[in-house]
Amino acid sequence: MWRGILHHYKKLLPPIEDRYIVTLLEGNTPLIPALRLVQYLKIDVKLYLKYEGLNPTGSFKDRGMTFAVSKALESGHRAILCASTGNTSASAAAYAAKAGIEAFVVIPQGKIARGKLCQAMIHGAKVVQIRGGFDEALKIVRKIVEDHPMVLVNSINPFRLEGQKTAAFEICDALGDAPDYHFIPVGNAGNITAYWRGYQEYQKLKKVTRSPKMHGYEAEGAAPIVKGHPIIDPQTVASAIRIGNPASWKAAETARDESKGVIDSVTDSEILEAYRWLANLEGVFCEPASAASVAGFVKCCKKKIFRGEETVVCTLTGHGLKDPDTAIQNSPEPVTVDAELEAVLKVLKL
Ligand code: F0G
Repeated sequence: MWRGILHHYKKLLPPIEDRYIVTLLEGNTPLIPALRLVQYLKIDVKLYLKYEGLNPTGSFKDRGMTFAVSKALESGHRAILCASTGNTSASAAAYAAKAGIEAFVVIPQGKIARGKLCQAMIHGAKVVQIRGGFDEALKIVRKIVEDHPMVLVNSINPFRLEGQKTAAFEICDALGDAPDYHFIPVGNAGNITAYWRGYQEYQKLKKVTRSPKMHGYEAEGAAPIVKGHPIIDPQTVASAIRIGNPASWKAAETARDESKGVIDSVTDSEILEAYRWLANLEGVFCEPASAASVAGFVKCCKKKIFRGEETVVCTLTGHGLKDPDTAIQNSPEPVTVDAELEAVLKVLKL
């Protein structure tokens, strides 16, 4: 039986006593071959989707949250705190509920996808919305923990990245080696850092023969790393990565440089195109920010960087149901008719 990442990868993670482990059985997510998408793009690579939307709260954050919350309990804390563009707050709220401790979350007002906000609320977190963005929220929570006995569970908490690196382990375990390329969205830049650490550790342990080139993608209107300076008022349809001054900026650049990869940006329309292709061609519904990885892959296909036969993994960081509004806005509206067979047949053109 799968018992969550802390039990499964115990030997490869910092120590934690079993009795403190708080788990919702996160991890063990599918690595889905994307055969129709590569056919459609007429590209000869082995493309896989690491579908992190199938974690317990619907995003990759659960891998880090199980560890951060378990460690908070181990150190005797009874409250956790985070700033969030949505998914971290949803995950923090759920794991705090499971642990029986309090969660405080600070989010940008009106900029959180509806599914994520309702998760934080239903799990009983204390939610504060600020008239500002994620970067300001992060500044505020960093200050709060200086004077209050609570644990910050943003990715600057070292156990978050330790947990998140297990996604790279799972990919290697499934493929039998590391892929040639790994594509991933970049927001606060923690996840690209975590994956790179995971791949490198597996290579050092000789569980794999190589590490992939890391390809990280920011949204064009929120691309501080690509532009080389913080962005004051970042804008993108991919609200999860609407971040202008990432906490793990330097570490992400290190991952890029050591892996001989790139950090580039994709436009909102490229993101939404990839988002629809995934849904229509692969039956995989991810949130817009997640589709930035596939949009980056498509951009690389157009640049003809692949020779053929490479193994490529794209991480889909969160589930599409997180953001129903964007899905509805990007789909044809259903037609309403009277409850009559003829009327239905007419609309269906049958
Ligand atoms: N994709 C999704 C769905 C996310 O929620 C995030 C980050 C990212 C990608 C980017 O990952 O920050 O490690 O580079 N969400 C954070 C949050 C910021 O508050 O939920 P990153």
